[in-house]
Amino acid sequence: MTNKYVYFIANWKMFGDLKTLNSLDKVIKFSKDNKKKKFKIIYCPPSTLIRPLSKRLKKTKIEVGAQNCHESDKFGPFTGQINSQMLKNVGAKYIILGHSENRLKGDDNKKINLKIKSALKAGLKVIFCIGETLREKRNKKTKQILSKQIQVGLKSVNNNSKIIIAYEPIWSIGSGIIPKPNDLIKSISFIKSKFVKKSPKILYGGSVNPNNIDQIKNINTIDGFLIGGASQDPKKFIDIIKKTIN
Ligand code: PGA
Repeated sequence: MTNKYVYFIANWKMFGDLKTLNSLDKVIKFSKDNKKKKFKIIYCPPSTLIRPLSKRLKKTKIEVGAQNCHESDKFGPFTGQINSQMLKNVGAKYIILGHSENRLKGDDNKKINLKIKSALKAGLKVIFCIGETLREKRNKKTKQILSKQIQVGLKSVNNNSKIIIAYEPIWSIGSGIIPKPNDLIKSISFIKSKFVKKSPKILYGGSVNPNNIDQIKNINTIDGFLIGGASQDPKKFIDIIKKTIN
């Protein structure tokens, strides 16, 4: 993977407070020390940390993203919700949409499509998560599920350059299990085949850690990784990056 730009996106989920941000000094130093290498780090913390984190990362190459948004691009009577313009306003450049943890809470393909369009309108780049459940995999439905997620999720989205797809099999998220490299290669190539024009960048996500990164880092159709649990520990996160880019 060393000859192209590799993405390392940290999905912090519901983790972190103001104090946690101090732990990022190590990652900032690592990024500065390796600034000539071709990789990009993006932190997606909870919304409460977007502003303080963007301030802290101002003079660095590390960027900040959000984890979800409401689909409306206007203010409205939606208690507890935040829209993409508001996230952009406090410093987000990216946004994770379609994550399975939010699909479980009611984000279906159509709603995700609305969210993607509102995020693009706000000027955010979208990290669009897709993936099948274990049952769907066992029933050999993976391709059907991925097709539908892409077809509906990206309906009327014309500019793929602002979209990054994260292929996250749901059974691999937080389970410690990653797909067999050959299966992963097949799914990635299937996803690419869905795009007649240029395919968006495609990341892999699900239980990526310093112990298993060697098994998948050389799959050259993958443009990087979306990392949950392991990204909360700066040492593990740096280890994953080092093993991939060196
Ligand atoms: P995980 O999460 O690395 O903890 O499996 C990945 C994700 O949910 O994006």
